[in-house]
Amino acid sequence: MERKNVLVSEAELVRQRDFEQKIFDMFAAREAHPVACIDTFGCQQNVADGQKLMGMLEVCGFTFTDKAEEADLVILNTCAVREHAEDRVFGNLGALTHAKKENPEMVICLCGCMAQEQRVSERIKKSYPLVNLVFGPHALWKFPELLWQVYQSRKRVFSVDDEHGTIAEGIPVVREKGVKAWVSIMYGCNNFCSYCIVPYVRGRERSRDPQCVIEEVRELVEAGYKDITLLGQNVNSYGNDLGIGYDFADLLAEIDRIEGEYLIRFMSSHPKDATKKLFDTMAASRHVAHQLHLPFQSGNDRVLREMNRRYTREQYLDLIRYAKSVMPDLVLTSDVIIGFPGETEAEAMDTVSLVEEVGFDALFTFIYSPRPGTKAAEMPDPATRAEKQKWFDKLLEVQNAMSAKLHAEYIGKTVRVLVDGRSDDAEFPLTSRTEGNRLVRLKGEESLLGQFVDVKITGSNTWALYGETV
Ligand code: SAM
Ligand code: SF4
Ligand code: F3S
Repeated sequence: MERKNVLVSEAELVRQRDFEQKIFDMFAAREAHPVACIDTFGCQQNVADGQKLMGMLEVCGFTFTDKAEEADLVILNTCAVREHAEDRVFGNLGALTHAKKENPEMVICLCGCMAQEQRVSERIKKSYPLVNLVFGPHALWKFPELLWQVYQSRKRVFSVDDEHGTIAEGIPVVREKGVKAWVSIMYGCNNFCSYCIVPYVRGRERSRDPQCVIEEVRELVEAGYKDITLLGQNVNSYGNDLGIGYDFADLLAEIDRIEGEYLIRFMSSHPKDATKKLFDTMAASRHVAHQLHLPFQSGNDRVLREMNRRYTREQYLDLIRYAKSVMPDLVLTSDVIIGFPGETEAEAMDTVSLVEEVGFDALFTFIYSPRPGTKAAEMPDPATRAEKQKWFDKLLEVQNAMSAKLHAEYIGKTVRVLVDGRSDDAEFPLTSRTEGNRLVRLKGEESLLGQFVDVKITGSNTWALYGETV
């Protein structure tokens, strides 16, 4: 698709700001102080979208609460990646029925990836009349207009058309207070891994203009954010659609020139598009954390082929070897699926052996969940849930031992961390993150919050390190 058709026009964006003003004026005329509750499920991409929803609502005059029953507007910003995520949303909708009986004026909105699935929007249309507004990720930028339609017509509004997808710049954002910020650098996915729903609900890959990304990061650094994560389903294909011979490594190198005390992270990376140039750029940078989330999904070549991942176990191991050769301190994490349709015990154990061979600092592990509409959902899946659970438990046992071992190796060392929060552990009241994003629970004063400090690691377990300032 031509780029001019991907970018939402300035005029359209101005129109949306007009709808925000209309909503603001409507509440002001009623002398009402509207309150919204946004419940976000799923990945950081969705969290970033939730922050845009908050940004638009803040301009409309809303304040925010965590309690749905106290809200005038409840938004479920949903995830479709596994069945469990969807079940939770339907559970929440059930619970909202009661709140809406108490407050019939309450507006309920379902958005995010689930909303973009036809099967879901039809179910909502038919069986959940309490939901007033349904829109998918493609319609996020026109949320003000959709909300205005709901307030004006009091009719149910659905905006869930299947699309290539667009890019809308300049949407207001409410960010978390503190040091962490998320920056989407691209949207959508072209990979169609056979198990995955994301390409169906998030459209095709679209890269933001490099200058827009760089400016956003610069503004965040100036505003005091120190731990900035660049987001995309596969950041390694950033720039492919720009047609200017500019790739993700080029973007990282340019961002790295921004002066200041901050770290840059990114996720996710697809091994098929990870390049030596990327690892060399990371190694040479001042601000890019030596941390890599490189999902491998399976350690067996047949399963990888069926998953449509387009790399082999050996190619993955080569990448890791190269990355570690240029960054010996690299902290590695990954995503893994156990129980893909047709996977045998021996094939699942290939995944376990890859985990042992690489030595990941942490893993995000999932049991395969069939997603209607994907290719894998049509494949025969003879292994029982109990068998898959047994393989999964074996994987966790191996990984937990590995995390504990790698964490124990930190004891006695001094590492630089960014103090990012408070904890309710009286002995270790602060939380912090190493450059590799390992959690360090800290003894220390509140005044350290938001600062980079050197700490000595005094203890560890599978999940965290413990330390004190030096
Ligand atoms: N685009 C990223 C990538 O390719 O690494 C992240 C995709 S998804 C949001 C996050 C993880 O969920 C995937 O890496 C995969 O391990 C897992 N996942 C996706 N579809 C799944 C399914 N149908 N069942 C179980 N896990 C799934
Ligand atoms: Fe899903 Fe694969 Fe795209 Fe990741 S790369 S979002 S796993 S289709
Ligand atoms: Fe993310 Fe879930 Fe959508 S993982 S992209 S919110 S399906």
